[in-house]
Amino acid sequence: MNATELLARRERLLGAGAPLFYREPMNIVRGDGVWLFDADGKRYVDMYNNVPCVGHSHPRVVEAMHKQAGTLNVHSRYLHEGLLDYAERLTDLLADSLRSVVFTCTGTEANEVAMAMARIATGGRGIICTDAAYHGNSAEVSKLTRARRGKDAEIRAIPYPQCYRPLQDGVSPSELTELYLEEVRAAIDGFEASGIGLAGMLVCPILANEGLPDIPDGFMPRAAEMVRDAGGLFIADEVQAGFCRTGRWWGYEVMDFVPDIVTMGKPMGNGLPLAAAAARTELVDTFRKRTHYFNTFASSPLQAAVGMAVLDVIEDENLRQNAAKVGEYLRDKLAKLQDRCAPMADIRGHGLFIGLEWVSDRSAKTPDRENAVDFANRMKDKGFLINNAGALGNVLKIRPPLVFQQEHADLFLTAFEETLGEIDGAA
Ligand SMILES: Cc1ncc(COP(=O)(O)O)c(C=O)c1O
Repeated sequence: MNATELLARRERLLGAGAPLFYREPMNIVRGDGVWLFDADGKRYVDMYNNVPCVGHSHPRVVEAMHKQAGTLNVHSRYLHEGLLDYAERLTDLLADSLRSVVFTCTGTEANEVAMAMARIATGGRGIICTDAAYHGNSAEVSKLTRARRGKDAEIRAIPYPQCYRPLQDGVSPSELTELYLEEVRAAIDGFEASGIGLAGMLVCPILANEGLPDIPDGFMPRAAEMVRDAGGLFIADEVQAGFCRTGRWWGYEVMDFVPDIVTMGKPMGNGLPLAAAAARTELVDTFRKRTHYFNTFASSPLQAAVGMAVLDVIEDENLRQNAAKVGEYLRDKLAKLQDRCAPMADIRGHGLFIGLEWVSDRSAKTPDRENAVDFANRMKDKGFLINNAGALGNVLKIRPPLVFQQEHADLFLTAFEETLGEIDGAA
């Protein structure tokens, strides 16, 4: 069946709005490490997918999955040592205070749990988020998606803190941090004044979906302190930032603070649905007692075995160090191309997560979503998968599996330079 026929069949079966990437959607049939192969046998360097964090079809993960599925897989209402071993290994990677964990199947569910945990613990209902966030698709969590003032009394969105298009021009870096903190203060005061009360603040520590901006210095630790002083809990959504993506285990380490609750998902199971909310034991206990939370496919022996294999691979293959080293290499090389590429106005990120701000006018910082999309499509035609993202849709997102090596970066850079030669605005 050719691509046109597949597309028509998909629209009939899955509905016409089901999202697809690229002008000409890809028919991917196989993955191996950083490589993806389409039905015609063409290969692509996957530079977008953070779910297969240890690489597509990693043999150790496949073997762990196969072995456990062939031994036992049940829901969580039984004792199972493998699950406890995994919970212990996972919490050992987190800050000392985060000792207990609620497993779920998706990042959305982990954030549902975290929001409920914060509301139960504090008695408040109000959650602070940023105005260009995405934390999941359920009715409750999607209230945080691009939240606007007045849409929901229990959600208050602050302008996402950033240095590139700051809240106010002409202020010093420390004044900028204060301006964004004043937004947090106003949200807290608003919840108190309305009687809703503060439950907490939920943010991705590196603001991945907002477009990975440089965050004004000290914002995250100071915001966490402010929220705690007001009786709330600070929730770090590590669904994107966690599991060594940044070159550190957790995004909150990059930002230098310790959250009260951490949520995680995407890379945890290398593709098997596996996610979690981790917190202090008393928070988890209170949440469990109050809700009797149960999630059929979560906390299973299969999730535990696969999650453990992912941790084994990350550690045995030094993937945290690799993300830091290769990420820095790629970022430095891209920075060297910046003078020759007028649209590439800002290069930022952490580890193997890089954002390129694409503009049509550097001095006016005019976002250029259309040409960012065009560039991503050109790169795809050359065999490199990146895409556009961010609050304005104009940030090219580079986020390969953690097994991405310098040799892959070099291949990408050659194709990148070639593509620059094809577009307007590049010398
Ligand atoms: C930061 C962040 N949090 C949560 C989610 C939701 O995760 P899931 O799609 O597994 O529900 C996403 C998904 O893209 C995300 O980017």
